[in-house]
Amino acid sequence: MIWTTLLLFHGVLIIFWMLSNRSRSKKEPPLDKGVIPWLGHALEFGRDASKFLTRMKLKHGDIFTVRVAGLYVTVLLDPNSYDAVLEDSVTLDFTRYAEVLMRRIFSLSLPNHNASTEKALMRRHFQGEGLTCLNSVMEGNLQALLQSETPQDRENWKRDGLFNFCYSLLFRAGYLTLFGAEQNDRNRDSSAVYQEFRKFDALLTKMARNTLNSEEKGISGSVRQRLWGLLSAALPRGKTEDRWLQNYLRHLREEGVDVETQKRAALLQLWATQGNVGPAAFWLLGFLLTNPEAMSAVKKEFDSLSVLADSPQHLPFDKLQNTPVFDSALSETLRLTAAPFITREVLNNKTLRMADGQEYDIRKGDRMCLFPYISPQMDPEIHQEPEKFKYDRFLNSNGSERRDFYKGGKRLKYYTMPWGAGKNECVGRLFAIGSIKRFLLTVLTQMNLELCDQDSTMPKVNASRYGFGVLQPEGDLEIRYKLRCTL
Ligand code: HEM
Ligand SMILES: *[C@@H]1O[C@H](CO)[C@@H](O)[C@H](O)[C@H]1NC(C)=O
Ligand SMILES: *[C@@H]1O[C@H](CO)[C@@H](O)[C@H](O)[C@H]1NC(C)=O
Ligand SMILES: *[C@@H]1O[C@H](CO)[C@@H](O)[C@H](O)[C@H]1NC(C)=O
Ligand SMILES: *[C@@H]1O[C@H](CO)[C@@H](O)[C@H](O)[C@H]1NC(C)=O
Repeated sequence: MIWTTLLLFHGVLIIFWMLSNRSRSKKEPPLDKGVIPWLGHALEFGRDASKFLTRMKLKHGDIFTVRVAGLYVTVLLDPNSYDAVLEDSVTLDFTRYAEVLMRRIFSLSLPNHNASTEKALMRRHFQGEGLTCLNSVMEGNLQALLQSETPQDRENWKRDGLFNFCYSLLFRAGYLTLFGAEQNDRNRDSSAVYQEFRKFDALLTKMARNTLNSEEKGISGSVRQRLWGLLSAALPRGKTEDRWLQNYLRHLREEGVDVETQKRAALLQLWATQGNVGPAAFWLLGFLLTNPEAMSAVKKEFDSLSVLADSPQHLPFDKLQNTPVFDSALSETLRLTAAPFITREVLNNKTLRMADGQEYDIRKGDRMCLFPYISPQMDPEIHQEPEKFKYDRFLNSNGSERRDFYKGGKRLKYYTMPWGAGKNECVGRLFAIGSIKRFLLTVLTQMNLELCDQDSTMPKVNASRYGFGVLQPEGDLEIRYKLRCTL
C-alpha cells in the first residue's frame, strides 16, 4: 500500500516536473519559477503583489518572468519602456485576458462581441457633449440623495466610517445616473444594490484568481444572483431615450445576446463604472482630513470659484474646469492608491526592445504585465519621499500643472498612470474626475464633516487588492457629519 502511494506521489511529481521544465534561453528575461511545482509564486503574489514584485525587481531588475499558477507572466517595471508594450496592441492583446476575468467574475461570455463598437458608444456618452449631460445628472442625484434626509435627521450628527460614507454616496449617485432610469424609490433601490455590491466587491479578487473556498463560492453565487435580479428590474425598456445603457443593451440585442446574458453584462458595467470612484474619493477626502494644509488649499480654490455663482453647489460645470489644486491633490491621491495591473496576452513570439536598447524575447502564450504602481508611482528616483502625500506634487511654483518628471536623466512620458495608457486608457476618466470633484465640493460646502478623533491617521491598504484598480483600506477613519442648515 505504502509503495503504491509513494509511486503515485513520484509519478505526480515527475509529471509536474515535466510540465514545469521550462528553462530560460539567453535572450529571454530572467526566469523565476519559485519552489512550488506549478503554483510557483501564486501564493506570495496573491498575498501582497506589490511586496512580491518589489522583491523580484531587486533580485532581477526591471524585467523578469515569474511562474504564477501554471502561467508565465513577464513583468516590466521600467516606465521608459512601457510604450514598447502599450503601442503593440496586435501581438499584445487586451481582450483575451479581459474575457477570462469576465467569465470568472461575472460568469459572462460574449463570443461575437464587437468591442470597438462598444467603445465608440462609451466615448460618445462619457466624453464631449455627452459628458456635460452626465455630469449634470450626476450632480442632481448627489443633491437628491443628500436632501432625502428628513428634517429632524438633519439636526443630528451622524457617525460612519469614511470609506462607507464615500463609497455609498458616490456609488448610489453613479448608479442612479447610469442605471436608474426606471427606479421607483430611488433611495431604497440604490441602497439595496449598494449593499449587495459591497459583498460582491469583497470577493472580487478571489473570484479573479479562482481561489474562492466552497463557502465563498456559495456566497458569491447567491450575491451575483441577487444583483442580477436587482439590475434586471432596473434595466431600461424604452427605446427612445438616447442614454448609454439603453444603447449598450440595444447593441447587445443586435448581436443576438439573450436577456439572461444582458443582465450579466449589466453587472460587469456596474462594476467597471462604479467600482473605483468611491474608493478614490475616500482616499482623497481622507488625505485632506489628515493634512490640514492640503485641506485649506483645496478649500481656498473652491471658495475662489464660488464667487462665480450665487451658491457653490450650483456652480455650473464649466466654471469648475480650472482647478489645478484639486487636480494635483487627486493625482497625488491616485499616485498613492491606484494600483492596476496592465495585463496583455502574448499572441505571438515577440522581441521587446527596452529604452536602454536591450532586447528580450517574449514567448507566445505567456502574459505581459506592467505594474505602474511600483514605477513610476512609488519610485523614489521619480517622486521624492514617495510614500508621503504631498498635495502640491503635481503643481509648478506658479500654480500650473507640473508635468516634468525624470528617471535616469530622461524626461518621463508616464510619471503616474492611474488610468492606464495608450489605446485602452480609461474611457470614463473625465466622468470619474468630474464625479469626485462634485462630491468633494458638495461635502466641503454643504456639510460639516470631521474626524471623530482629530489625531487619527490614514489606515493601511489591504494588500490583497494590488492589481485590481484603486486600493481599499484595511480599517477605516471614523467620521461624524451633518448637513449644514443653510441648504
Ligand atoms: C477612479 C476611477 C477609475 C480608475 C482609477 C480607472 C482605471 C482604469 C484603468 C487603469 C483602465 C485600463 C486597463 C488596462 O489598460 O488594462 C481602465 C479602463 C477602462 N475604464 Fe476605467 N477607471 C475609473 C473609472 C471609470 C469609470 C467611471 C468608467 C465608466 C464610466 C470607466 C470605464 C472604463 C472602461 C470602459 C475601460 C476599458 C477601456 C478599453 O476597453 O479599452 N472607468 N480604467
Ligand atoms: C465592429 O464594427 C465596426 C463598425 O461597425 C467594423 O468596422 C468592425 O470591423 C467590427 N469588428 C469586428 C471584429 O467585427
Ligand atoms: C481585504 O480584501 C479582501 C478582498 O477584497 C477581503 O476578502 C478581506 O476581508 C479584506 N481584509 C480586510 C482586513 O479588510
Ligand atoms: C516561439 O519561441 C519558443 C521559445 O523560444 C519556440 O520554442 C517556439 O518554436 C517559437 N514559436 C514560434 C511560432 O515561432
Ligand atoms: C509656469 O511654470 C512652468 C515651469 O515651472 C512653465 O513651464 C510655465 O510656462 C509657467 N506658466 C506660466 C503661465 O507662467
